[in-house]
Amino acid sequence: MVRFENVTKSYDEGSPPILKNISFEVRRGEMAYITGPSGAGKTTLLKLISLEEWAEDGAVIVDGEDVEEIPEVEVPLFRRKIGIVFQDFKLLLNRTVFENVALTLRVRKDNEQYIRVQVHETLKMVNLRHKADAMPLTLSGGEQQRVAIARALIAEPTLLLADEPTGNLDPDTSAGIVRIFKEINARGTTVLHATHDRDLFRGSGYRVFRIEGGAITLEEGI
Ligand SMILES: Nc1ncnc2c1ncn2[C@@H]1O[C@H](COP(=O)(O)OP(=O)(O)OP(=O)(O)O)[C@@H](O)[C@H]1O
Ligand SMILES: [Mg+2]
Repeated sequence: MVRFENVTKSYDEGSPPILKNISFEVRRGEMAYITGPSGAGKTTLLKLISLEEWAEDGAVIVDGEDVEEIPEVEVPLFRRKIGIVFQDFKLLLNRTVFENVALTLRVRKDNEQYIRVQVHETLKMVNLRHKADAMPLTLSGGEQQRVAIARALIAEPTLLLADEPTGNLDPDTSAGIVRIFKEINARGTTVLHATHDRDLFRGSGYRVFRIEGGAITLEEGI
């Protein structure tokens, strides 16, 4: 589903690369973790997949396509395959929960009836149907994050990228978020979850890739 082939990335010319010649693959239907210390390049790696950043060397292949070959006009279409959950939620604070989750479908100009059904189904999945009319700031951190997850899932992405989605949450709430990801994954979505929280993946059986010093390694026996 996602393959990096000898990818090198630096932000400024002449400065040492953040990612040095890295290669790894996340299989279709897999749920995998990316870990590593702060500043190691986890967010950078996810941005290379969502086309917010570009590699200077090597190839990033997503769903069989070399992202570098995607014509600019097709980038929005490509991005629709991907759901993204950010650490800081990025919710629209002056819109209700319902409207935040509906956003992608409205941009797509889906019909009202379909939007209503989809939003309620997706909110049900994250256990927030009763909060559809609430404003984001009246929700707890964990609830806001679940709204962000519902928003990322509404268009049924083939790939879900989650960047420290549990960064500000307590352990129980974090475990709940991981449960939702497992459910999404069981329905066929590939999930790539960046986190430095070892408790989330220790003993889970999922593959864990570690970025450190510009290199990527597969953690064994966790
Ligand atoms: N837009 C940018 N311009 C220049 N440097 C950047 C930019 N974005 C990130 N960096 C640098 O790239 C390095 C990797 O950052 P990145 O955000 O990918 O790390 P991370 O592993 O996600 O860290 P954290 O765990 O703190 O979120 C850092 O040294 C950061 O300062
Ligand atoms: Mg980060």
